[in-house]
Amino acid sequence: MKLRRQIAAAAATAAVLMLVPSAVAAAAGDPKAPAVPSDSLRALGAQQNLRVGTAVDDAHLNTDQPYTAIVADQFSVVTAENAMKWESVEPTRGSYDWAAADRLVAFAGQHGQEVRGHTLLWHNQLPGWLTTGVADGTIGKAELREILHKHVTDEVTHFRGKIWQWDVANEVFANSWDANPLPNGLNGDDFWIKNLGEGVIADAFRWAHQADPKALLFYNDYNAAGQDGSNAKFQAVHDYFAKLRAQGVPVDGIGEQGHLDTQYGFDAQRFQNDLQSYADLGLKVAVTEADVRTFVNNATEQVPTSQLGEFAQPYEFSEMLKACQLVTQCISFTAWGVYDGDSWIPGTFAGTGYGLLYDVNMKPKPAYVALQQDLAIGADAAHRGKGHGPK
Ligand code: G3I
Repeated sequence: MKLRRQIAAAAATAAVLMLVPSAVAAAAGDPKAPAVPSDSLRALGAQQNLRVGTAVDDAHLNTDQPYTAIVADQFSVVTAENAMKWESVEPTRGSYDWAAADRLVAFAGQHGQEVRGHTLLWHNQLPGWLTTGVADGTIGKAELREILHKHVTDEVTHFRGKIWQWDVANEVFANSWDANPLPNGLNGDDFWIKNLGEGVIADAFRWAHQADPKALLFYNDYNAAGQDGSNAKFQAVHDYFAKLRAQGVPVDGIGEQGHLDTQYGFDAQRFQNDLQSYADLGLKVAVTEADVRTFVNNATEQVPTSQLGEFAQPYEFSEMLKACQLVTQCISFTAWGVYDGDSWIPGTFAGTGYGLLYDVNMKPKPAYVALQQDLAIGADAAHRGKGHGPK
């Protein structure tokens, strides 16, 4: 096993390793940060230089006390589930609304958390004024390009210095079921590629880098580590970003979303190998939107209908985390939401749910305990690697 984070284990303590629930630890190893439970995911992750995160729903943050406490205590990096998307920040052309996104960034600052910015170039959740204008021809290609340039520049500039990782481009590669893949694997039907050509992807990275040279710039996608039973999407993403890096385009990392479903099984070794292959290009990697859904009785209670599914759920979560722990360049592991009662899954994949770490009543699930144990083992290994373990 590669004990990748040995060198970062400066803050390892015996209390952390023993999972003492009442003990507290400085958040993410930062003595100025607020104290968090020493057995929290974030405290254990800090012992191995790994940030553990969640997507945050602005509708709950600060107004829902138990929800807010979980976000603060358990996670060291946060992603706005929707608040930084284009339709949220510029609902009316030329008029920005940063309020919800600013709330999250301020919260993160108060709680010693980093922020993943999500997302700048995506076909989904675009403002109506933009999609309507393109559809009816009142926004032509040249103007569309300028609008995108301004959007990337203005949003990255607004948050300059406050975003750790930006998902610059999201989901532009074809899936096995998409009708019009380009020869290099990009999705020929993607809104941006169809309208502006594939060069716009590299341009988005350049524009983001100009606006905030210190932010880490990521490409983010799902099934890009073999989860659909084929490694074709992985290979396309890998080869494309190898080429962009060789051309000097400022790409820093690949985010694998990690949306799994127990009915399809999961090849954990391939997932790890694919993350490692991205890393071998000199890129950082991150698991950015992890959840594992399974069939449930109904969307309200989300009780798994199969005992095997119930056991597969924490297992697959744990395998994704361990893959990240075993790849030195994997810098964060983020769950896509706090609890099952506030997950996108039941509304999108009818009949499924139970995808997150906390149940519909915000109680920690077996998946939470599995991740906590994985992180404790990693912290222990890092601690022993410092020479504190048995000889
Ligand atoms: O904001 C409106 C609100 O005004 C309205 O009353 C309400 C009625 O349904 O809808 C609200 O918009 C919803 C929005 O989330 C904010 O809650 C949309 O209908 C809903 O479609 C949207 O879903 C989001 C989805 O992206 C859209 O594609 C999910 O919350 C979000 O979890 C999901 O996240 C994506 C990542 O960004 C990219 N990767 C896949 C992932 C899961 O789909």
